[in-house]
Amino acid sequence: MENPRVARIPFPAEIGLSLAAGAGAFAFSALVCSAARGHLPDVPLGLALLAAVLLIARATGILYALPAGVAAILAYDWFFLPPLRDMNDAAFTILALFLVMAVIVSAVTTAAGRRAVEAERARGDLADELIKSRARIVAAADEARRRIERDLHDGAQQRLVALALRLRTSAIDQQAAAGDLLEVIDELRELSRGIHPAVLSDSGLRPALRALGRRSPLPVEVDVRLDARPPEQVEVCAYYVVSEMLTNAVKHADATTVAVTVEPDGDAVSLTVRDDGIGGADPARGTGLVGLKDRVEALGGTLEVRSPAGEGTTVTCRLPGSTG
Ligand SMILES: Nc1ncnc2c1ncn2[C@@H]1O[C@H](COP(=O)(O)OP(=O)(O)OP(=O)(O)O)[C@@H](O)[C@H]1O
Ligand SMILES: [Mg+2]
Repeated sequence: MENPRVARIPFPAEIGLSLAAGAGAFAFSALVCSAARGHLPDVPLGLALLAAVLLIARATGILYALPAGVAAILAYDWFFLPPLRDMNDAAFTILALFLVMAVIVSAVTTAAGRRAVEAERARGDLADELIKSRARIVAAADEARRRIERDLHDGAQQRLVALALRLRTSAIDQQAAAGDLLEVIDELRELSRGIHPAVLSDSGLRPALRALGRRSPLPVEVDVRLDARPPEQVEVCAYYVVSEMLTNAVKHADATTVAVTVEPDGDAVSLTVRDDGIGGADPARGTGLVGLKDRVEALGGTLEVRSPAGEGTTVTCRLPGSTG
């Protein structure tokens, strides 16, 4: 294993250090061998030198261990085992050749090893990136499916519920019912193409909320006090909140009237939907209120439901997004 601190030094400098390690190991081993001569048996000293080389290899890698090992063995041969070597020109030449050979071999091996490690790491990074991009694709598909589910639930479903109730109470004639059904079909067609109701994108929140109110079997008072149109996602969010709350008022509240108010609130839009029904709304009993909270919070807004038993239900939203 390579020492990471050593691996950060530029490679040419490391080759110089490797030569220096060999020369240093030679000098040190020569001293040790000279001192040990006549006092220690040859095999234990040879094994001790090899153990030291093993430690260097583990701490710093082959680049330093091979020249140090070669130098230590030369020193052992020349200064410990008879006949002892005179340090003349020939001895220095041999020492230099051995050292350079060891540095070349260890440098080439080290460079190849590092390239292999880098290639492995790059393969790992690529695999990580692929896993992440797959997760992103799955998340995007999930998100799109959830959006369509929510828009269907909060939009077209509301219209069908309202229509069913009006048909049940015979408050609508066949012609009008057929007209309403055709509008629902149009809305479904728009939804399947990822578009929100045309009246909303074309004319803005006030006409879109009034149209929702007209289709409800309950009297709905709509008061939109915005001078300018808020960002599209705020309009869409507000539209679906009102749509779902009107459905809930019809389905659960036993209300006689619903009031919808939209007004500026600093750099946000404030939306309130209030019915005078039985209260007791509980997000844990369905998916509609929870879905609205998710929808509003996805825009960085807040949604609060107040629904004391017997006192009606009020949903208040704050949707960030300046109205121009
Ligand atoms: N305006 C309301 N007045 C009284 N009770 C309500 C009102 N709105 C919701 N509730 C109660 O709270 C519950 C949860 O409402 P939520 O809209 O989350 O679900 P849901 O309308 O039952 O079903 P869906 O998931 O189709 O919307 C309802 O089942 C109902 O009991
Ligand atoms: Mg509901």
